[in-house]
Amino acid sequence: MTSQNPSSPSSADPASPSPIKLFGICGSLRKKSLNRMLLQAAQELLPDGVELSLNELHEIPLYNQDVFDAGLPDGVKAFRDGIAASDGILVASPEYNYSISGVLKNAIDWASRPPSPPLHDKPLGILGASPGMLGTVRGQLALRQVCIFTNMIPMNKPEFMMSGAPAKFDQEGKLIDEESKKKLRDFLTAFATFTRRLKQK
Ligand code: FNR
Repeated sequence: MTSQNPSSPSSADPASPSPIKLFGICGSLRKKSLNRMLLQAAQELLPDGVELSLNELHEIPLYNQDVFDAGLPDGVKAFRDGIAASDGILVASPEYNYSISGVLKNAIDWASRPPSPPLHDKPLGILGASPGMLGTVRGQLALRQVCIFTNMIPMNKPEFMMSGAPAKFDQEGKLIDEESKKKLRDFLTAFATFTRRLKQK
């Protein structure tokens, strides 16, 4: 599902920021994922001129070069095409065993292969939410390592790690913590600027 700030000015307005499309990826498959809730909150807090789609990894099979060579599965093709058509990627992933989730790593593996690997040169924003104290900090470092070979371009700062996340959402999964909302809004504004800067090059 794609969301856009309703107050976004039209791209025809010369004073408006150039429109950008972000491809959001939730690194968790579970229904009540805190990281999906975080991406949904991001959709509500977008700066002007920014669209954010929320993409799931349920349809991405385990990476197999034989399958790749025989023809991309539909889910993989849609994933690769969606990234290619975007201006930047926004990942919200759980930390699993001090790294990123297996499903996220697997999806990145599919998107990293030639021809025309869509991850190449894409700006990357990294978000994470966890019930624990460190808010996915080690998982985020692992994702930054993956950026080296794939040549994604991660925004360094600001960082966004949400600790104690279950208390920050209501029963419907809506972000209710005002400090987190402000941090997330600031992060999204910075990432939009970062993405526009790279797009101009
Ligand atoms: C976890 N969790 C976890 N938490 C953490 O802070 N550091 C870690 O290394 C791990 N490792 C880990 C491994 C596995 C296999 C699971 C299932 C869980 C807990 C994790 O942060 C928690 O389950 C989150 O709620 C998962 O994110 P979603 O699904 O809510 O987005």
